[in-house]
Amino acid sequence: MSRPVDRRPTSLHSDTTRLRKPKKGDGAAVWNLISECKPLDENSMYCNLLQCDHFADTCVLAEMSGQIVGWVSAYVMPNEPDTLFVWQVAVSEAARGHGLGGLLLKDILGRKDCRGVTRVQTTITADNDASWSLFRKFSEGQGGGLSYAPYYTEDLHFQETQSTEYMVTIPLAERAALAA
Ligand SMILES: CC(C)(COP(=O)(O)OP(=O)(O)OC[C@H]1O[C@@H](n2cnc3c(N)ncnc32)[C@H](O)[C@@H]1OP(=O)(O)O)[C@@H](O)C(=O)NCCC(=O)NCCS
Repeated sequence: MSRPVDRRPTSLHSDTTRLRKPKKGDGAAVWNLISECKPLDENSMYCNLLQCDHFADTCVLAEMSGQIVGWVSAYVMPNEPDTLFVWQVAVSEAARGHGLGGLLLKDILGRKDCRGVTRVQTTITADNDASWSLFRKFSEGQGGGLSYAPYYTEDLHFQETQSTEYMVTIPLAERAALAA
């Protein structure tokens, strides 16, 4: 089922940009989008199929004129139902800079599956400026809180093959106040 975007970016062909839950038939197109969005890790196509199929309720894609131009994979942490963990955010080059990344995050949080969520977490490497900017901007709309600490480290977890991933935590101020 697809539905119109509520807060549409004005210069993003807003009449044709739609956000929707993925279906398993979207897995290959999601894999293609991610492979075009450096520096994201390319997972297997099978992984993207599982996300589109089993995790559809907490993933979202954006379509423009029938093309997938945006994607967020996320899940509610199995042992922490108050935390939405965002795995990857990808916006095609042509659609960047219009707020689509932030809209995709908000779309997931607005679903009933995220009723109990009071914070967002993600991991970011120190050099990914676009990702830091996206999540800082997102946090500004959520009360301004953002903290981070090394989590999957280059030496301990990646056998020196990848840079350290910092765990970023963004409290959703209004929801946390309601839940308290
Ligand atoms: C990161 C990404 C998803 C942002 O998508 P987007 O739709 O362009 O993001 P938004 O338009 O919502 O921008 C949010 C903020 O980030 C800033 N930003 C976007 N790209 C940036 C870049 N390359 N460098 C610095 N800041 C950047 C924007 O300026 C904006 O801040 P502002 O409103 O204060 O100007 C997109 O650039 C992308 O797909 N990059 C490659 C994949 C990636 O690195 N994903 C990271 C998340 S896992």
